[in-house]
Amino acid sequence: MLHRMFRTAPFKKSRAHLLSGITEITEDDRKWLYSELEDYLKDDSVQSMAGFIQHGNVTTLQHSLRVAEASLALDRALGSRSDRHTLAVSALLHDYYLYDWHGRSLKYCNHGFTHPEAAMQNAVRHFNVSKDIRDAIRTHMWPLTLLHIPKSREAAILCAADKYCSLTETLFCRKRKG
Ligand SMILES: [Fe+2]
Ligand SMILES: [Fe+2]
Repeated sequence: MLHRMFRTAPFKKSRAHLLSGITEITEDDRKWLYSELEDYLKDDSVQSMAGFIQHGNVTTLQHSLRVAEASLALDRALGSRSDRHTLAVSALLHDYYLYDWHGRSLKYCNHGFTHPEAAMQNAVRHFNVSKDIRDAIRTHMWPLTLLHIPKSREAAILCAADKYCSLTETLFCRKRKG
């Protein structure tokens, strides 16, 4: 049921589907993903990500689920045989920093550099995640975070899937004015 409840909205413009062949999840993988993430998705702190905007009109929870779907699709397309549990949980929690970074507050001017560490610390505090998941979360913004380089296949796939989803959400999911 969860895989239907959280079905992510398709991007509206066709240009957003340039890479759809390798970023579109199969129905079986989607069912597996939402069953694997069921306990996390029931958690109030994970649900609170639905209250923060990530890019355009996409919430942080929607973005994280898109990244999780794209990560699994990319893993399948590349035949990289990642650890799918690590990939799914890392993707869901990669932006688990739990604040709204928009607005003009100077407090968040370094958000791009600092949020992977904040997300990782929350993931450890709330879910005691494995070292592989911690490393994937911490390195997802590379090359912006120069010294935190993705070193596992799961971390590399998450890093690529996040770039793809962030770009398409920024370009094609903008808020309407007026
Ligand atoms: Fe991020
Ligand atoms: Fe992200």
